Amino acid sequence: MLAGGSLACLATSLLLPLALAASNSTFTNPILPGFFPDPSCTFVPEWDDTFFCASSSFNAFPGIPIHASKDLTNWKHVSNVLNRAEQLPTLAITNKSTSGIWASTIRYHEGTFFVMTTLVFDDQPQTNFSRWDNIVFHSMNPFDSSSWSDPVHFNFTGYDTSPYWLSNGTVLVTGSHPWQVQPGITQTTIDLTTGEVGANFRYIWNGTGGLAPEGPHIYFKDDWYYLMIAEGGTGVNHMETIARSKSIDGPYTPNPNNPILTNANTSQYFQTVGHADLWQDASGNWWGAALSTRSGPNYTTYPMGRETVLYPVTWKADDWPILQPVRGQMSGWQKPATNLSIAGEGPFADAADYITFPPNSSLPIHFVHWRIPANGSYTISPPGHPNTLRLSPSRLNLTAFDGNYAGPEGQTFVGRRQTDTLFTYSVNLEFSPQQQGDEAGISVFLTQNHHIDLGVVLLPNTSSSASPKPLAPYFRFSATSYLAVPPPVLVPIHSSYPNYTTLSDPNATPLNLYLEIKAINVTHYAFSAGPTDAMSDVITIGYAPAADVSFGFTGTLLGVYATTNGRSVNASSPGTPAYISEWRYTPQGQFLS
Ligand SMILES: *[C@@H]1O[C@H](CO)[C@@H](O)[C@H](O)[C@H]1NC(C)=O
Ligand SMILES: *[C@@H]1O[C@H](CO)[C@@H](O)[C@H](O)[C@H]1NC(C)=O
Ligand SMILES: *[C@@H]1O[C@H](CO)[C@@H](O)[C@H](O)[C@H]1NC(C)=O
Ligand SMILES: *[C@@H]1O[C@H](CO)[C@@H](O)[C@H](O)[C@H]1NC(C)=O
Ligand SMILES: *[C@@H]1O[C@H](CO)[C@@H](O)[C@H](O)[C@H]1NC(C)=O
Ligand SMILES: *[C@@H]1O[C@H](CO)[C@@H](O)[C@H](O)[C@H]1NC(C)=O
Ligand SMILES: *[C@@H]1O[C@H](CO)[C@@H](O)[C@H](O)[C@H]1NC(C)=O
Ligand SMILES: *[C@@H]1O[C@H](CO)[C@@H](O)[C@H](O)[C@H]1NC(C)=O
Ligand SMILES: *[C@@H]1O[C@H](CO)[C@@H](O)[C@H](O)[C@H]1NC(C)=O
Ligand SMILES: *[C@@H]1O[C@H](CO)[C@@H](O)[C@H](O)[C@H]1NC(C)=O
Ligand SMILES: *[C@@H]1O[C@H](CO)[C@@H](O)[C@H](O)[C@H]1NC(C)=O
Ligand SMILES: *[C@@H]1O[C@H](CO)[C@@H](O)[C@H](O)[C@H]1NC(C)=O
Repeated sequence: MLAGGSLACLATSLLLPLALAASNSTFTNPILPGFFPDPSCTFVPEWDDTFFCASSSFNAFPGIPIHASKDLTNWKHVSNVLNRAEQLPTLAITNKSTSGIWASTIRYHEGTFFVMTTLVFDDQPQTNFSRWDNIVFHSMNPFDSSSWSDPVHFNFTGYDTSPYWLSNGTVLVTGSHPWQVQPGITQTTIDLTTGEVGANFRYIWNGTGGLAPEGPHIYFKDDWYYLMIAEGGTGVNHMETIARSKSIDGPYTPNPNNPILTNANTSQYFQTVGHADLWQDASGNWWGAALSTRSGPNYTTYPMGRETVLYPVTWKADDWPILQPVRGQMSGWQKPATNLSIAGEGPFADAADYITFPPNSSLPIHFVHWRIPANGSYTISPPGHPNTLRLSPSRLNLTAFDGNYAGPEGQTFVGRRQTDTLFTYSVNLEFSPQQQGDEAGISVFLTQNHHIDLGVVLLPNTSSSASPKPLAPYFRFSATSYLAVPPPVLVPIHSSYPNYTTLSDPNATPLNLYLEIKAINVTHYAFSAGPTDAMSDVITIGYAPAADVSFGFTGTLLGVYATTNGRSVNASSPGTPAYISEWRYTPQGQFLS
């Protein structure tokens, strides 16, 4: 089902029984559409009754986005915990798309916000550090990225670490031991200032037998300690289970009604529900967030990956919590009143983009690179090119070496998350490629092994009979995936395009081209290009299935890149810059069932 504009209102009035109590509210999922997995959320009365959520970010930089809301519906991106290379320089050298920042836990304690998480290094034989770099950041003002501290590192052989404060001041850390060790939830004490952990991580619960018990959180209610975890792995068998104990040390007794939240073995469009957190609003009502994938049980097309969903929770005294199953259309407790005046510089989760890169501006906080960006590769409004973003090409293209690694030299790419089933994304590109292989363009990027690109590239002119063949500019559409991809398409850039004849002159006005990606339906993207000053000449160059970019832990980014495709770049030979302007992203509909 499609929800968007008036259609959404229509659907709401048709689908919800009129008998619903006036005091209950309705809302739609996801609350954070797009690549916002592994949510952790908390409610902070001391900050004007605001809800905060943190998300995983894997190799994306800036990372660990924080969203804030007053009404649980309108969520604003207010800061990025990870926003300076110095905080975690080793994020520059992670291998594989499964590496980087895994699940975070956000908590507020006595005036300070804490975000605890793990920087993961998968398949890195060349490094001598642990696979698991557990860290905790703190901030006194989550509406300001620069307020987030450098991390305190602590030693734990595992991931999904979560802090908990006992009433006597002792702080505990609960985490997940990896499947390669002995899977289970372990706990010890931690000093959040020094990172010193207790001598022993003790196993407190191993879950109900599902794969990968992980994502633990502790809650204290009616003299019970509740330990809620995810099991089943983050695919279609994902589920949330819970156990409780009168003592923080255990033993923990599982809920006989586990799992308490799952869409496994259903035909729901929202699948993989799990990795959850719970909190109480100002009225005392309980709510929870989890991740979910809009894939249906087929689990083949879900380019936005694992998104954040909301559900109401009923939790009677002494009893186990009841979590409402996740759907696109939900109803539950009356939500707090809407108040859109939320501090912080980022956009709301459902916002469009129209970014013109004016002089003296910076990249918006919802723009991300893949790993830490190389210094100087992104310049806003450089001399002679006001209202553009200049991309200096990287030697490496979006695939880089083996599709896993890029190393510290980086890849020139900046994007934003796909946040809608249907959308149009476009930029203008001024680019006059000078040497063979020079390329700049737009991409639906999921990982280095999964991306669909439409670039402008200089290649030998296939239709020339001269030897050697002269170089000519082409639109190149191509895709990389573990699944079958559409064949590459090369379209010569038409010599009637304005300024084509001056193309080979690096000092002449470059070609000015319009590049567009449109999700034309739930399964396919269309890629189009043409001259900016003659939109009637814009042609669709290729179509690609969204299944090609549905994989793993992350979600699609829509962005721009520039590369020499392997030719060295350095100060004396920096490669041809690309100038991006008129960056637009227009939401055109969400599928909810
Ligand atoms: C990255 O991982 C791949 C696949 O596991 C491995 O073959 C490669 O050696 C790794 N690269 C680095 C730089 O560690
Ligand atoms: C291991 O890493 C540490 C710190 O990153 C470095 O000082 C040390 O030289 C490395 N050792 C080896 C054998 O690479
Ligand atoms: C980290 O903890 C592990 C397991 O408890 C221990 O073997 C290792 O020596 C510790 N490493 C450091 C640097 O303290
Ligand atoms: C706080 O309580 C825990 C759990 O009962 C206990 O293990 C710990 O020793 C206590 N710490 C202090 C400082 O009293
Ligand atoms: C969990 O599994 C570990 C490792 O197999 C085992 O040592 C421990 O006793 C188990 N703990 C509980 C609470 O079942
Ligand atoms: C789903 O069905 C499979 C196969 O019958 C079963 O193993 C699994 O436990 C079920 N998962 C849930 C969460 O019910
Ligand atoms: C799911 O996959 C099956 C078999 O691959 C196919 O018959 C069916 O049409 C698919 N359903 C949807 C909703 O895509
Ligand atoms: C209102 O929502 C709560 C939370 O989902 C639920 O427990 C309750 O039954 C709902 N009330 C009505 C009248 O639907
Ligand atoms: C809306 O939120 C802002 C910021 O927290 C607060 O100052 C203001 O009083 C709120 N407005 C209403 C009507 O509650
Ligand atoms: C072509 O170049 C001229 C100057 O070299 C410039 O004035 C004009 O705007 C350019 N046209 C386009 C469509 O870029
Ligand atoms: C989406 O569009 C593509 C390309 O036109 C088409 O092949 C495909 O069948 C369409 N899918 C759906 C579900 O309409
Ligand atoms: C991308 O870069 C790799 C390694 O630098 C190179 O092998 C590959 O040919 C490049 N891809 C294209 C399309 O040029």
